[in-house]
Amino acid sequence: MRIITFGSFDILHYGHIRLLKRARELGDELLVGVSSDQLNFNKKGRTPVYSEFERMEILKSLRFVDAVFLEESLEKKREYLLEYRADMLVMGNDWEGKFDEFRDICQVHYLERTPSISTTSIIEVVKEMKH
Ligand code: CTP
Repeated sequence: MRIITFGSFDILHYGHIRLLKRARELGDELLVGVSSDQLNFNKKGRTPVYSEFERMEILKSLRFVDAVFLEESLEKKREYLLEYRADMLVMGNDWEGKFDEFRDICQVHYLERTPSISTTSIIEVVKEMKH
């Protein structure tokens, strides 16, 4: 069973780790579509702290991630799922219902988001730190 998930995964944190670990446990192979720097900028209005190259290298080094690829456009999700022959798309439940349109080509599963942590909140905490 090949699992695919997508995300920015900037400043890798505990919420990301829990999502990836649980996703991997749903199958025997986990592929991660890492949003490009450009896509991140369009989506979140900021350039990621870590470049797409760095984010991909970090994810690749995790034992429960088998492979990574660059997600260059949100509109290409269906193409990626077909190209990488995904059996299941897994996303955090902040995306609940948003990817149900792909149920015709693979299973779609939403995992509970880990409370109280996000890349955005880490950036805010660091900004507030006194020097
Ligand atoms: N995720 C999660 N729990 C968290 C944060 C993220 O399960 N606390 C999941 C998301 O649901 C998504 C994946 O991790 O499936 C990648 O999310 P991403 O947008 O990269 O992380 P965030 O921390 O939410 O980033 P940001 O604050 O920039 O939106």
